[in-house]
Amino acid sequence: MQISSTALPIILTGDRTTGPLHLGHYVGSLKNRVALQATHRQYLLLADAQALTDNAHNPGLVRDNVLEIATDYLAVGIDPGLTTICLQSHLPALADLTLLYLNFVTVARLERNPTIKDEIQARSFGRDIPAGFLCYPVAQAADITAFKATIVPVGADQAPLIEQTNEIVRRINRQVGIKVLSEARALVPRVGRLPGVDGKAKMSKSQGNAIRLSATPDEIQKAVQRMFTDPYHIRASDPGRVEGNVAFTYLDAFDEDHMAVEDMKARYIRGGMGDSTVKKRVDEVLQALLAPIRARRHALARDPGYVLNVIKQGTARSRDITAATLRDVRAALGLFTLNY
Ligand code: TRP
Repeated sequence: MQISSTALPIILTGDRTTGPLHLGHYVGSLKNRVALQATHRQYLLLADAQALTDNAHNPGLVRDNVLEIATDYLAVGIDPGLTTICLQSHLPALADLTLLYLNFVTVARLERNPTIKDEIQARSFGRDIPAGFLCYPVAQAADITAFKATIVPVGADQAPLIEQTNEIVRRINRQVGIKVLSEARALVPRVGRLPGVDGKAKMSKSQGNAIRLSATPDEIQKAVQRMFTDPYHIRASDPGRVEGNVAFTYLDAFDEDHMAVEDMKARYIRGGMGDSTVKKRVDEVLQALLAPIRARRHALARDPGYVLNVIKQGTARSRDITAATLRDVRAALGLFTLNY
């Protein structure tokens, strides 16, 4: 299928290229993106420039995950005929817009941004915050507005970044007296964040508690084996708890047979169901979900030129779109223009 030129609502979202995508990404956003691509014009940004804002010491990691994540996109069913996949660092208009937008936000406002505050803490930068990191919300405002996106599917933790974007949009529009930029809204998934297999709140590669979309059957099985359940549920006959029991959280997230899940929960609570039975079901469900994704990944691996071409073509198309927005913003601001 081809991307038509009719006025479909525009979606932009992206991923920092710091590691392969995992099940948390799948329930949190990839599944939605696959569904939304049919009814929206969707752009997916391989956010390597943003990834560098806290990985300047490790550019190789940022580089290597570009193809990795693009392959994940295609493997889960992103159709490059419907969705444009593009590489952030190769869209110079994004950097130009960032430089202009930086003048419409204060350092104090960036320091107050709740997402940034949390992330600075988590990374223990202390007093050594890279300027690029503090300012990445401005770059993200450039990403969103350059594509004229009105819908940004992101996790709840990113909502303050969309608010920051809209503040910049309003300030610029007010300054120039026309609506040169559009505000966007965050589309936050209804399902909560998927915990790591160890029961920690967040599945993340750096915590070693994630199941990658490209996990092998053996890796899946091992991760399910060590999944956190109810520590007080020792014998199968003991009554157990399903709240905070990761095995059941995963069944809620991935098992389509909701009746069967409710039935298992009831039996577990009552006593008489062993963890191994629950885990066996989790393993079955995850193996069934990931097998076709892995198969598509293998097919894509046989043709590396294909993935590269998808990125090249998507980036070329995006270059024109983002350059047009840059021209609009420069003109609206009334900057000197050399028409060459
Ligand atoms: N901040 C996003 C993340 O952490 C990645 C990202 C970069 C993004 N630019 C974006 C998301 C624009 C939505 C819109 O993964």
